[in-house]
Amino acid sequence: MDFVRVDLEENGVAVLTIDRQEKLNALDPQVVEEIGQALLELEIEGPRAIIVTGAGERAFVAGADISAMHAMDAMDAKRFSEIGHAAMALLDRSPIPTIAAVNGFALGGGAEVALACDIRVASENALFGFPEVSLGILPGMGGTQRLPRLIGPAVAKELIFTGRRIDAGEAQRIGLVNRVVAQGEALNAAKELAAEISANGPIAVRHAKTAANRSLDVDLISGLEYEADQFALLFATADAKEGMGAFIEKRKPRFEGR
Ligand code: COA
Repeated sequence: MDFVRVDLEENGVAVLTIDRQEKLNALDPQVVEEIGQALLELEIEGPRAIIVTGAGERAFVAGADISAMHAMDAMDAKRFSEIGHAAMALLDRSPIPTIAAVNGFALGGGAEVALACDIRVASENALFGFPEVSLGILPGMGGTQRLPRLIGPAVAKELIFTGRRIDAGEAQRIGLVNRVVAQGEALNAAKELAAEISANGPIAVRHAKTAANRSLDVDLISGLEYEADQFALLFATADAKEGMGAFIEKRKPRFEGR
């Protein structure tokens, strides 16, 4: 892969870095395909958590590649959007928890990559925005669907209709970002968060993510039924016995993911 690399940390956390710094990590079709391919490999490998970040201090991802899109016809654009959707689905539909470490510009497609993650950590120099309408297009990698679900339709529509950029503080106030840290610290903060997650029962975390995702798709009664089934399923795992047993024996649990 030319623009995407994956590093596996000792605690089982994977860090996926988008590295096309000369274009502020902008996403052309090749970069999007590489992200999808890397995430598919991680889906099989099954790390405890996945962190997505951009290389360098200036940008997380400065958007879909405008030069590449300028050359696209409608069918190329449809394909580009679909490849993007497939890759993003591997972030938010995968049972593996995903964290975006946003270290600078997260515009357009960059904001959409961050949106597809479960949790967003931003450095204080991060800038978010959906400038697509200023280019005569619209967010095509999930922004029109995930932003209203995350922060509510009114504020989402304002951001999408105006294309206005917001800083990390405002992003946190509107619920787009979980936490803001000092410049240069987003990746470290994401790693700390991932370490907290990876210390927990891995099967429990996976099922908890799937259950929380379900809340966005179904009515409350169906969601609660799903939760009860997932709750019951975990009682068949050795990790559940270990976790609850460790509490009773006043010791730290040793989860083995089975
Ligand atoms: N697509 C293609 N190339 C991009 C890009 C994008 N989304 N964002 C940045 N780049 C390229 C620039 O064209 C430039 O390339 P060049 O050196 O070959 O000319 C390089 O990355 C550096 O960007 P530059 O614009 O010189 O940096 P800057 O600090 O002056 O401005 C931004 C940074 C992010 C404000 C500006 O690059 C920008 O507005 N980018 C587009 C953001 C956008 O609309 N994204 C949504 C697309 S849907």
